[in-house]
Amino acid sequence: MERLRGKTLLVGLTGGIAAYKAAELVRLLTKSGAGVQVVMTRAAQQFITPLTLQALSGRPVLTDLFDLGLESEIGHIQAARSADAVIVAPATANVLAKMAAGIADDYLTTVLLATEAPVIVCPAMNAKMYAHAATQDNLSVLRRRGVMVVEPEAGSLACGEEGPGRLADLSLIVEAACRALTPQTLSGARIVVSAGPTWEPFDPVRFITNPSSGKMGFALALEASRRGAHVDLVTGPTALAHPPFVATHRVTTARDMEQAVKALARDAQAVIMAAAVSDYRPEDTAPQKIKKSDDDLVIRLVRNPDILAGLGADKQPGQILVGFAAETEQLLENATEKLRKKNLDLIVANDLTQPGAGFRCDTNVVKILDRSGGVEALPCLSKEETARRILDRIEALMRITKPGSDSR
Ligand code: PMT
Repeated sequence: MERLRGKTLLVGLTGGIAAYKAAELVRLLTKSGAGVQVVMTRAAQQFITPLTLQALSGRPVLTDLFDLGLESEIGHIQAARSADAVIVAPATANVLAKMAAGIADDYLTTVLLATEAPVIVCPAMNAKMYAHAATQDNLSVLRRRGVMVVEPEAGSLACGEEGPGRLADLSLIVEAACRALTPQTLSGARIVVSAGPTWEPFDPVRFITNPSSGKMGFALALEASRRGAHVDLVTGPTALAHPPFVATHRVTTARDMEQAVKALARDAQAVIMAAAVSDYRPEDTAPQKIKKSDDDLVIRLVRNPDILAGLGADKQPGQILVGFAAETEQLLENATEKLRKKNLDLIVANDLTQPGAGFRCDTNVVKILDRSGGVEALPCLSKEETARRILDRIEALMRITKPGSDSR
């Protein structure tokens, strides 16, 4: 969540049972390095005390529009001005109605009217109240005005009913804040990202693979999606959860990955292959577990398709193709050769011998090579930051590459 570091987030709590979950939200946001200013309505204070939120945010909680001390410098206007984003969680039907109507009768609704920062609402209420035409109309009005709505989850509610109305998972709310703070520079673009290893089985319980965790590819997918792109993530088997707001396609073998990537790449402006695809697979897969015997076991391996080379050979006009090169020797020579052979626009050279680089870790050390021979050497960075730098380069190429002008 590096995106939130140093930002000021105003979190508004309204009066619903999910207010207790907002305490954990405030803790997560504060932990991510954001300054969190909590505002509570009178009803919210019936569910959870300002003292709890003050302890978690490290700042006095704003509750009273007519507080002689805090309001001596028109604090609610300052709070509205200083926020980089405003999150209302939980947002009751009542506050949504007030927002839609432009009513400003307490601290929170006044700030909401005065702020120019992006606003995120996270509705949580009884399922019938949520489904009511008035609530849905109010949400439509707010969406039209650019308010981001993090939909509630369906499930059993505190009132005993079932249905949509539970506050969204907190990871989704935190991700919505990251998005709200990210310039939408890839809005309208479609990007395909591959991640993780492939599994190449030789019997039902054994396979050939590599140590890829998927972290690099997932970081790229999340960042591209934060910038407004429609992202299809094609991933081999990993332990990572689906990144929020990203269309995730889980595959197993290189041939599965090829099929999925090829189909999705047809409509994509950029394809980024961060997956560690197995170059070989066992020629045969035994239908049953191979029994141990006294003899050695010989498995013949055959070539897998090279997915990226296939995309490069059949490149769509204006499409940006980005590969990775995981190397243990002659980094630049090998990466340059792959860039040329696979007809790529960029290749991200990964020296696996460097500490903090490559498989599994949360950091990476890469060099970005382009077709003109340019080499950008990045220091050891988090995979999140490495993804940002790679996407900056892709964006720059997308700006100069127009469909039909594939003359580079
Ligand atoms: O997943 P992590 O644990 O975060 O680790 C990240 C990573 C080390 C996997 C990643 O940073 C990385 O380097 N990925 C590429 C690994 C790799 O397979 O490199 P390669 O040099 O073998 O392949 C070159 C390029 O061709 C890659 O873009 C690869 O996706 C692609 N390829 C390779 C073989 C094949 N059959 N089909 C392909 O498309």
